[in-house]
Amino acid sequence: MNQNTNEGNVIGFPEDFIWGTATASYQIEGGWNADGKGESIWDRFSHTPGKIENGDTGDVACDHYNRYQQDVDLMASLGIPAYRFSISWPRILPQGTGKINQAGLDFYSALVDALLKANIEPYLTLYHWDLPQALQDNGGWPVRDTAEAFAEYSHVVSQHLGDRVQNWMTLNEPHVSAYIGYLEGRHAPGHKDMDEMVAASHHLLLGHGLGVPAIRANVPDANLGIVLNLFPVHPASNSEADKQQARIIDGAVNRWFMDPLSGRGYPEDMLQEYDREMDCVLEGDLETIAAPVDFLGINYYFRVIARSNRIPEEENEPQTLFPSDEVTEMGWEIQPPGLYDILERIHRDYEFPALMVTENGAAIPDQVNASGEVDDVRRVRYVSSHLREAGRAIQDGIPLRGYFHWSFMDNFEWAQGFSKRFGLVYVNYETLERIPKRSAYWYRDVIAKNQV
Ligand code: FCB
Repeated sequence: MNQNTNEGNVIGFPEDFIWGTATASYQIEGGWNADGKGESIWDRFSHTPGKIENGDTGDVACDHYNRYQQDVDLMASLGIPAYRFSISWPRILPQGTGKINQAGLDFYSALVDALLKANIEPYLTLYHWDLPQALQDNGGWPVRDTAEAFAEYSHVVSQHLGDRVQNWMTLNEPHVSAYIGYLEGRHAPGHKDMDEMVAASHHLLLGHGLGVPAIRANVPDANLGIVLNLFPVHPASNSEADKQQARIIDGAVNRWFMDPLSGRGYPEDMLQEYDREMDCVLEGDLETIAAPVDFLGINYYFRVIARSNRIPEEENEPQTLFPSDEVTEMGWEIQPPGLYDILERIHRDYEFPALMVTENGAAIPDQVNASGEVDDVRRVRYVSSHLREAGRAIQDGIPLRGYFHWSFMDNFEWAQGFSKRFGLVYVNYETLERIPKRSAYWYRDVIAKNQV
């Protein structure tokens, strides 16, 4: 673990470094049933009482569906050169496959045009968790058809937007889709089934692998990748039990996805750990999943300190590594060096042609003060310290090409609804007014100077 945070020095970034912000369709758009859009698993889940804090839903969210031009203008006024957004699958294919909803395509087409006109480079994510409910009714990610449906969807979107969008991401955080959606049940569709989790993770990866050639066929010069949530995992002590726990967490979150994407198949130790038939893996699947990509997107929020729960606490060695008590509103430890560590490890172990930080950010209890401003110094400090680690990684030769802040604006934070604010821009959910926070102006200056 490298603790040298370079505090105090000015760190410059390469000339062609990509600065951006990120959002996702369900979290900002609203318009949940507008203009022919089909229902998604998140519509269904948030409409189910008890699933989301305060009973919040994404029905309106930030109303970005109607206010996208204003949002693009605001982004442009803040000098943000790149924007990562996602497409709502059921807005385009209300039933998941088959009939196209032209109004859905028109919306994204207009968004892309607005971005290009404002000189903002679009980075398009195809799947950020809002699966068409029709596909879930047919079994969802645990069934193979969904991977094939994803290939069709990838084809449709890239056929229509590929003339203007060069940067493509297939999936956002398949680990979270599979684990939290199908095993822990805290996310849509809210299932708690180990077999479903394992099959879902395979079909998500397969969907990615089938999507890659579909996109490449329509966008020959595509800059194409996948986005994973990855984190460094450290044993809490030197005990065998903690080391084993660290290996398993690393296996479930990092290696279960990185290994097959890199052509190594599923990690042997995790196959044993899950102890499943894996009859969902058909001949050729592993080759499909390992289709070469141009970059890997990494979402980094925290590190994990692994403490074994397989032996009684008193039989374990005393814990020697503890999280710092600096946490965000999510309860996530603030640990900037972890960003360096994960970039370094992923580069060393897997060597993708390029890496991008596709998400990083902090939930802070922001408030509008008497002068109508949001003085989020804590977010400025958070981003600044993480950017220093990103800069240090680049200095050490790691091919990190860009950084996207999560998020452009406050939005619907999944099971926590609107209670968590991650934006550079404050959103008043009563009036839907947008107020750039101090961090937005600070980020504007970082980008302008290309240094932190
Ligand atoms: C990531 C998600 C993103 C957002 C952040 C806080 O896991 O990709 O949508 O919710 O966490």
